[in-house]
Amino acid sequence: MPNSRHGRFITFEGGDGAGKSTQLRRLADWLRARGHEVVATREPGGSPAAEAIRDLLLSGRAKPLGALGETYLFAAARIDHLAETIEPALASGAIVLCDRFIDSTRVYQGIGSDLDPAVLAAIEAATIAGRLPDLTLVLDLAAERGQARARSRSDAPDRFESADLPLLEARRQGFLAIAAAEPERCTVIDADRDADAVFADVAARVALLLGPSEAAADG
Ligand code: TYD
Repeated sequence: MPNSRHGRFITFEGGDGAGKSTQLRRLADWLRARGHEVVATREPGGSPAAEAIRDLLLSGRAKPLGALGETYLFAAARIDHLAETIEPALASGAIVLCDRFIDSTRVYQGIGSDLDPAVLAAIEAATIAGRLPDLTLVLDLAAERGQARARSRSDAPDRFESADLPLLEARRQGFLAIAAAEPERCTVIDADRDADAVFADVAARVALLLGPSEAAADG
């Protein structure tokens, strides 16, 4: 009964090592178990062209373009991802779960660079054309905790992960500032707990978004 439900767009944001991917996977399972169509995706990436741009960005090959050039690449990837994956899924009534979206650009490209915030805001507006997430879950973790968790993973840090503690903390504050400025869209979740406790908050917030029948089905 896909037509009886309209699509919802939920994004996960936060620093590296905050557990976004784990929580996103769990939420996808939880929603599917309740009969929802779920499309789980990520940025940069989520469509063939955007995944190619992701390679360029995360490998560091686009670094010579500078922060503005990289921002345009994140935007180009996002335009394709919206057109090819997100919008069609929402139109079919699915719940789209996306690992990172506009807030990552605001924070990663905006903080610690000399980019004009007005330029970033204009690029964002032109890129998403009004498609804001219905809900953004900001997984919040102290910078040093996130760094320790990210380091314990086996994969090498990508171009944007390698940062010192003051920059990591500034990014954390950046996500918190966005959440404070847009409380209707964003919910901050304390990620410095075990995955079950974090997920209980994730599920409760999503149940609220989806309405009373979901809240009753919680568990
Ligand atoms: P990601 O696959 O999200 O890894 P993780 O969340 O496990 O760190 O990696 C994407 C990287 O790209 C991450 O370091 C953040 C960065 N990024 C930006 O700098 N700007 C953006 O707009 C997005 C979406 C990601």
